[in-house]
Amino acid sequence: MISVKMQDAINKQIQAEMYSANLYLSMSAYCELKGVKGVGNWLRVQYQEEMAHALLLLDYLKERGGKVQLAQVEAPPADFGTLTEVFTKVLEHERHVTGLINQLYEVAIQEKDFAAQIFLQWFVNEQVEEEANATEILDKLAIIGDRGVDILYMDKELSTRVFVPPSIAATNSNG
Ligand code: FEO
Repeated sequence: MISVKMQDAINKQIQAEMYSANLYLSMSAYCELKGVKGVGNWLRVQYQEEMAHALLLLDYLKERGGKVQLAQVEAPPADFGTLTEVFTKVLEHERHVTGLINQLYEVAIQEKDFAAQIFLQWFVNEQVEEEANATEILDKLAIIGDRGVDILYMDKELSTRVFVPPSIAATNSNG
């Protein structure tokens, strides 16, 4: 059985992951409308990843006998500026989420919930990847700028991203 404090903290993180999903879906639509459909695809896959994060947490809560309490999710912005501004916001948001995951992990430590600590290690590692992905794109944008033919190459590259659902096996073994 899971403690009420741990349960509430996981429910809060489910809400945060759903906000992340909506934020990236909004960014995706924004970029597609601007004509960079590959970037839109990358962000849409990011939306799918965030929904998968929410579902992993939700399923884990159920598995532990906790009560799932969904909450209202704040509306994301609809305008994001230049491509560099878009990915700066992605990186800032992921840094924020890393802080939330760390707080969640801290609750698991306070509650002496060793099972939750092991489960949450996947999310701790996932945040390293999330920040690295956004940083890599920002680094490229810093080289090529927001305009020019190189943006088309980048757009093409980002169009190849596909969603791979995180599996239970990956949850248990993936760092
Ligand atoms: Fe669910 Fe982008 O972290």
